[in-house]
Amino acid sequence: MKVGIANDHAAVDMKNEIVKYLESLGYEVINYGTDTKESTDYPTYGEKVANAVADKTVDLGIGICGTGVGIGLACNKVKGIRACTCSEPYSAEYSRRHNNANIITFGARVIGIETAKQIVKVFLETPFEGGRHQRRVDMITDIEKRNETK
Ligand code: RB5
Repeated sequence: MKVGIANDHAAVDMKNEIVKYLESLGYEVINYGTDTKESTDYPTYGEKVANAVADKTVDLGIGICGTGVGIGLACNKVKGIRACTCSEPYSAEYSRRHNNANIITFGARVIGIETAKQIVKVFLETPFEGGRHQRRVDMITDIEKRNETK
């Protein structure tokens, strides 16, 4: 599986740790930056990883900023993206099982590296359950379609 990862200046160290961890688990990871701690703008990097997921360059994405909120909001502006901001593994698991999330985001200033590792591992390993959950995910896509020409 190919995984895209993107972050702002607040999350360079955590991103580097997560890349090493995922590679040790056998994932191919594409890094969309940033790689310096110079102040930058999370929407720039959220859009990069979201586009990579939307155009299928990668299978799933990870976004990290200070809180995970800003980069998640940016990712969700790209058509077809369902980005979930999670601070613990249970929500990360169910974001896959029930919501078919394709990007997980979290905050380097909110959670520690061990929780972040648990979150990405469960997110990448958990399948979407489909069934009744597909109908609800389709309803989310319908909202996107109804609003795209406004
Ligand atoms: C940067 O200071 C901070 O605002 C950003 O990393 C993020 O937390 C935004 O949601």
